[in-house]
Amino acid sequence: MSYQERLQKVIPGGAHTYSRGADQFPANAPQILTRGKGAYVYDDKGRRYLDYGMGLRAVNVGYAEDEIDEAAIREIRNGNNLTRPSLIELEAAEVFTRTIESADMVKFTKNGSTSVSAAVKLARAFTGRELVARCAEHPFFSYDDWFIGSTILTRGIPESVIEQTKLFRFNDIASLKELFARHPGQIACAVLEPATVAHPEDGYLAEVRSVCHANGALMILDEMITGFRWHLKGAQHYYGVKPDLCTFGKAMANGFSVSCVAGRRDVMELGSIEFPGRERVFLLSTTHGAEMAGMGAFVATTKYLAREPVVEHLWRYGGRLIELINALSKEFGVESSLKAAGVPCSPYCMTLGRDGKPSSELRTLFAQEMVRHEVLMPWIAVSYRHREEELALTERALRGALPVYRRALEHGAGPLLEGPPIKPVFRKFN
Ligand SMILES: Cc1ncc(COP(=O)(O)O)c(C=O)c1O
Repeated sequence: MSYQERLQKVIPGGAHTYSRGADQFPANAPQILTRGKGAYVYDDKGRRYLDYGMGLRAVNVGYAEDEIDEAAIREIRNGNNLTRPSLIELEAAEVFTRTIESADMVKFTKNGSTSVSAAVKLARAFTGRELVARCAEHPFFSYDDWFIGSTILTRGIPESVIEQTKLFRFNDIASLKELFARHPGQIACAVLEPATVAHPEDGYLAEVRSVCHANGALMILDEMITGFRWHLKGAQHYYGVKPDLCTFGKAMANGFSVSCVAGRRDVMELGSIEFPGRERVFLLSTTHGAEMAGMGAFVATTKYLAREPVVEHLWRYGGRLIELINALSKEFGVESSLKAAGVPCSPYCMTLGRDGKPSSELRTLFAQEMVRHEVLMPWIAVSYRHREEELALTERALRGALPVYRRALEHGAGPLLEGPPIKPVFRKFN
């Protein structure tokens, strides 16, 4: 039995994240990985791949970074999970609230979904309202029903929950105003990422905040991806906006499982215990929420990012990668189809069909040919360990892949594919 078959036999979806599943990779991609070091991952046969997936963007320094791992291991040896709050848990909370300007208080947990759902719950409790406005273009906020119910994957979710989440469009303040006008006094919060594929327009985020406040709602910024990549102090600092609540995760602990909800004291305090007579909010209470290994890794990652020019490097390398892909795309005559773009610290690559729309066949072919040249590029997440050598390796892989890509543009990608095309994660049927 192949690894794929074994995985799918015992794990629904074959992985613990749908974006790690077999339907997200070309057929020649490694089915299983055994370890990662720096910017590389290794399969069961010891084959090495330059990785641009970086643990679903959770790794921004590099895999198995000694200094960060040592900090985590120290905390494991200290017991890892004690009966009262640990010293490292306090230190992590103080480091976080010192680093992120909008955060008066913070509550840690293991997963981003849990954090964003907690922010929504806080906003509902604070405002006494039930509806949630979420940004339509932003692909993922949580596996919880309030978000998944607003995608096409509604099976198993009560209609009443589906109806409670409304959509507005990014960089389109009128669409948010319209939601508030259509549901007066009912929307608890607007949830959005500060940026995804492009910068927000000048003043947009500030306007979201003021429209929310004018309508008695809270602004929640989800910094799961932007946090510790756009800026050590978050994209909120980079764009100069102060959300009421914000959520972080992914790169905050260089791959260790740490996430959090943070924000204004008067909102976060709804989860506190020291206000006699006040009705409580049951906010994030989990056995492993402040697991000491993760807390140690977070504190060590923050120190590392403050000392080393990690964020500057992500911007510089990402910018050069965008230029490299576009230059080679032009050199090989495929520039009408293969384009790199994005905010430099978080580039992305488009593979467009003749109709100018994203083509899953071309995306799969590109990924397949990059894998053939030992580069795993399901999306582009850059790390501090992507250096000159890695850029050169990427160039060699692109030079190997693009002649095949060109042939696909001339004669069709289908016959060149070794397996089925990659499918969207958010699709109604298998
Ligand atoms: C913007 C955003 N928010 C929330 C999440 C959920 O985080 P997690 O996978 O840690 O639950 C993700 C994960 O991809 C994300 O990209």
